[in-house]
Amino acid sequence: MTLRSLAANTPSRRANWRALGLSLEDMEKPKIAVVNSSSELAICYAHLDGIAKIVKEEIRAAGGVPFEVRTAAPSDFITGANKAGSYILAGRDIIANDIEVQVEAALLDGMICLTSCDKTPPGHLMAAARLNIPTILVIGGYQPAGEIEGEPVDVEDVWSGTIGMRFGREPKFPIAELAENAIMGPGVCAGMATANTMHSTVEALGMCLPGHAPVRANSPKMQANARAAARRIVEMVHEDLKPRDILTPGAFKNAVATVLAVSGSINAIKHLQATAIEAQNGLDVFALWEEMSDVPVLSAVRPTGDIRIEQFEDAGGARAVLKRLESRIDTGALTCTGKTLAENLEGYEIPGPEIIHAMDDPVGPGPSIAILKGSFAETAVVRLGIRDGSRPEEFTGPARVFESTAETMQAIEDKVVQPGDVVVARNQGLRGGPAMGGSASVILFALDAAGLAKTTAFVTDGQLSGLCLKGLTVAEVHPEAATGGPIGKIRDGDVITISVANRSIDVNVSPDELARRNGPGWKTPATGYLNTFRHDVRDMSTGGVLTPSAD
Ligand code: FES
Repeated sequence: MTLRSLAANTPSRRANWRALGLSLEDMEKPKIAVVNSSSELAICYAHLDGIAKIVKEEIRAAGGVPFEVRTAAPSDFITGANKAGSYILAGRDIIANDIEVQVEAALLDGMICLTSCDKTPPGHLMAAARLNIPTILVIGGYQPAGEIEGEPVDVEDVWSGTIGMRFGREPKFPIAELAENAIMGPGVCAGMATANTMHSTVEALGMCLPGHAPVRANSPKMQANARAAARRIVEMVHEDLKPRDILTPGAFKNAVATVLAVSGSINAIKHLQATAIEAQNGLDVFALWEEMSDVPVLSAVRPTGDIRIEQFEDAGGARAVLKRLESRIDTGALTCTGKTLAENLEGYEIPGPEIIHAMDDPVGPGPSIAILKGSFAETAVVRLGIRDGSRPEEFTGPARVFESTAETMQAIEDKVVQPGDVVVARNQGLRGGPAMGGSASVILFALDAAGLAKTTAFVTDGQLSGLCLKGLTVAEVHPEAATGGPIGKIRDGDVITISVANRSIDVNVSPDELARRNGPGWKTPATGYLNTFRHDVRDMSTGGVLTPSAD
C-alpha cells in the first residue's frame, strides 16, 4: 500500500522532521501516532508515560516511526471536582477532537491509543471510527486496591462510605483509613465500573489484542501487551486494516453481549452509540440491548457481586466471557489481529470457569441492563445486575420532583422523601447538566444510606457512575428536561409507573396536558467550553456526540 504520510512528504516537512532526528529512511516508514491520553493530575494515568516509552521503542524496532501526541485526560475523582462533574463527559469528545486535529491533520498512517480512565476508551474509539486509519488500543489496566485488617478495600468504599456518613451510616472502617488504603498504585478504579467495562468492551469490539482486558496496570503482562500491540499496529498499517472493517454491527453486538454478561456500567450504552455514529454504520445501539436481552450474567464482579477484578482477570477476563458467549454472538466479526473472533478463540481454555460461568449455568438471568420506553421517555436505562429479587423491578408511585442534586439530597436528609415515592432529579442531561453533570450518582448512595433504596424508585435524566447498582434506578431519561421532555413537565404527585418486565416507563398525565405545561425553565449556568457543549451536543439517541463526521 502507499502510505498516506508520503503524500505530505514535502521538503519543508522533511526539514522539520530531519531536525527532530528522523533519518531519510524514516521518511519512507509508517508514521504511527502514540496517543497518550495522560495527565499528572490523576492516578488513572500515572503509569502511561512509561508505557508510551515502551510502545515507541517497539514501533521503531518493528519498522515504524512513532510520534507521541497528547490529549485531554479527564478523571472522575479529580477533574469532576468543578461544575458538578460536567467536564467529564464533555472531555470525551475533546479527546476525539484532539486526536483529529493532530493525527488527521499531520496525515499519519496509524495510531495506537493508550486507554485508561472512563472517557478515554470511548474518545479513542470515536476517533478511530472517525479517522478510519489503522488503530489499536492498549488497555491501561486497573489500580491495585488495598487492605485493612485483611479485608480488601477500594475507592468505592471511600466514596460510598463518605456519602453514607452524612445519613448516619458508619463506614466499615474510618474514612481517613479507607482513603489511605483504597488505592495502592496506578490504574483505573477497581471493579466493573465504567473503565473496566469499557476496557472489556474494547476487546469485544476487536479493537485491542485478545486477552488484554482487564489487566493489572503496569504489570509485566501489561507491558508485554503494550509491546505486542506496538508490533501489531505496524503490521496493520501495511495490511491497511481499518477500524470500519472491525467496527461492524456484529462487533457492536458482541460488545453489548459482553457488557450484559459482566453486568457492566450503563455508560457503555452511550459510548457505543457515539462510536457507531462516528463509524457511520447506521446502527441503533439502543435497540441491540433488547435484541441481546437473553444474555445472562456470567460473572459477578464488584459492584454486582463479590468477585474482585483481579480474580476476573485471572479467570480469563473478557476473552473468557467471549468464549462463553460464542454460541450467541457474531464470531465472524473481524478483529485487529486480522482474524475473526472465532479464529482468535479457537482452542482457548478458560482458566477460571468457576468465576466466569457457562451460559447454561449463569450467575443470574438476563438482562443486567434494560432500555425502557413509554409516555415518560423515548429511552431510559435501568441497571438490574443479578435479578435475584433483591431490588424492585415494578414500581408505581407519586413523583417527588427536584431540580438539582443538592435539593434532592436535602430532601432525603429532611425525610421529605418517603417510602413509595418516585424520586425525580432533573436538569442533569446533556444540555441541562450540561454534559450530564449534576452528580446524580450521589443521590442513589444517599437513598441507600437512608434506607430508602428498596422502597422508593429513582429517576433522572442524568448519568450514573459505573459503581452505582442499588434500588430501582432509571437514568439517562431521553428526552431530557432541558429539551422539553416529560421529565421536565411533571409535577409532584403525578404518578409514574416503571415496569422492567414490560420495558416501560409511563406517567399518568396525557400528552396534551404535558404539552400545555411549561417546563421548569431552569438551566445550570454554563460558560466557556461547557456552554459550547450545551449548544452543540446532539441528543441521547446519538450517544451525545458533538459533531458527527457525517455532517
Ligand atoms: Fe479514573 Fe475511576 S476515576 S477510572
